[in-house]
Amino acid sequence: MASSTTLFPFLSIVALALLATAYAHHGFSVELIHHDHPRSPSYNPTLSPSDRIQAEIQRFNARAASLRAYFSHFHEYHDGYPSTYPPPSGSQSPCHPPNSPHGTTIQADLFASTDNNYYMSIRLGTPVKEIIAVPDTGSYLIWVGCEPCPKCYKKDPLFNPATSSSYTNLPCDSKPCSQLTPQRFCVNSTCTYYESYGQGIPYVIGDLAQETFTFKTTSGSFVRLPGLVFGCTHITNGTSQRNTAGIVGLGGHPLSLVSQLGSSIEHRFSYCLVPSSLTKVMTSHLNFGSDAVVSGAQTISMIDNGRQSFYAVTLDGITVGNNSLGPINSTMMIVDCGSTLTSLHGTVLERLVDALKKTISLPQVEDGQLPLCFNESTRSDYGYPDIILQLGTATITLKPYNAFLMINNHVRCLAMKPNDNFSILGNIAQQNFHIGFDLASWKISFAAADCTKN
Ligand SMILES: *[C@@H]1O[C@H](CO)[C@@H](O)[C@H](O)[C@H]1NC(C)=O
Ligand SMILES: *[C@@H]1O[C@H](CO)[C@@H](O)[C@H](O)[C@H]1NC(C)=O
Ligand SMILES: *[C@@H]1O[C@H](CO)[C@@H](O)[C@H](O)[C@H]1NC(C)=O
Ligand SMILES: *[C@@H]1O[C@H](CO)[C@@H](O)[C@H](O)[C@H]1NC(C)=O
Ligand SMILES: *[C@@H]1O[C@H](CO)[C@@H](O)[C@H](O)[C@H]1NC(C)=O
Ligand SMILES: *[C@@H]1O[C@H](CO)[C@@H](O)[C@H](O)[C@H]1NC(C)=O
Repeated sequence: MASSTTLFPFLSIVALALLATAYAHHGFSVELIHHDHPRSPSYNPTLSPSDRIQAEIQRFNARAASLRAYFSHFHEYHDGYPSTYPPPSGSQSPCHPPNSPHGTTIQADLFASTDNNYYMSIRLGTPVKEIIAVPDTGSYLIWVGCEPCPKCYKKDPLFNPATSSSYTNLPCDSKPCSQLTPQRFCVNSTCTYYESYGQGIPYVIGDLAQETFTFKTTSGSFVRLPGLVFGCTHITNGTSQRNTAGIVGLGGHPLSLVSQLGSSIEHRFSYCLVPSSLTKVMTSHLNFGSDAVVSGAQTISMIDNGRQSFYAVTLDGITVGNNSLGPINSTMMIVDCGSTLTSLHGTVLERLVDALKKTISLPQVEDGQLPLCFNESTRSDYGYPDIILQLGTATITLKPYNAFLMINNHVRCLAMKPNDNFSILGNIAQQNFHIGFDLASWKISFAAADCTKN
């Protein structure tokens, strides 16, 4: 090996480059940076651990409110325009899809501009500009803040389309523009999108465009993807604090990153989130294509939701240690990497709390926000049981670190909150699972994994 490298250094480098390219088109992985990691744009080293937890709970509350808004407005979006639809100044009347005067297509994104849990780096344009964006399984559109944008989040300079040789605006009669419906306008014949995430949540308006994206993989190579459709946001009514520099939509819609990469990534992506105790020192991985094959997995069908921007399964039962909670009404459970906590129907959560109280003999303490907390200061034999979720035919075992959160010294709480209309499998519950999404078969795979190891 050593001699061939020495004898044919040029050939080896070419062969390696070709291999890297072939590999890149087959599968690649990028880093997912947790909110509290030093490379996160939200990193705040002055926060105490308990402040950090409180901030996580606030982020969860905002996310859950956004999810509820999405589902309560769904009917409205489905049937036509949201009543809060503000036409951008200078726009012509909204362009409806042909033969569909009221836009029968889906409403798109759950959430974007509130504070977030994970970030990823994208490199945009020619020459490249690095943007730290939020990957979101609850969004479909990829968008970034673009010059000029007076109210965009401006911790770093915005992407400037005028300086990129590979940037092009998409016209109103382009196919991607028709896929934006019903939230689009035609401004000077450029396709213009409007994204809102519910009452009281900021909206974004911008130009639909095409650009070259470059991803730095976890192996250090770069994957260049020309011609991806994305939004160049010029108008937002958000406050700079809560805005992000961009969103990478990972939902099921045709304009999401995953759908646009399509067969080149075998229509699949996955992630493996490292445990909370390590998020400050390690990054997690977001994988595409062959890297997203989950070995040893339990695979189940997701709920058929007409390719909206969320992924969901049914929650059919819960077991605490060896004891089933008994029959529960099945609910839709959204598998959401943007939610910190897990949510269950109020009556189910009450039964779970009762079962845990019987199992865990530690003294209880009250917490204003979380339903069950224990004082660990007097004991070391905590006795937290596994909690097993029955998701269709899959059984997912939540270890104590997936279900409980240390909120300050000696106090540990159940990391769950009630939500009656749907359940959420949050990202604490997802830690140390390799979770794969196959959009071609609309299936999800779960495998217990050590996410620090790949
Ligand atoms: C929750 O579901 C109930 C009954 O299905 C419905 O009346 C209520 O409006 C829903 N709430 C939200 C926030 O969607
Ligand atoms: C449309 O283009 C004209 C001419 O370039 C320009 O003056 C006008 O400001 C543009 N309108 C919008 C809304 O961008
Ligand atoms: C942005 O506009 C929406 C819709 O008009 C509104 O509900 C929301 O409060 C506004 N948000 C901010 C931060 O101004
Ligand atoms: C659960 O059942 C297994 C097998 O019957 C037993 O070994 C284990 O001790 C039980 N665990 C608890 C927490 O009761
Ligand atoms: C299931 O839902 C029905 C209707 O809301 C309710 O009457 C029933 O008590 C629920 N069953 C369980 C096991 O929670
Ligand atoms: C936990 O228990 C210890 C010992 O009884 C007590 O001193 C402490 O105040 C308790 N902590 C809380 C938060 O209740």
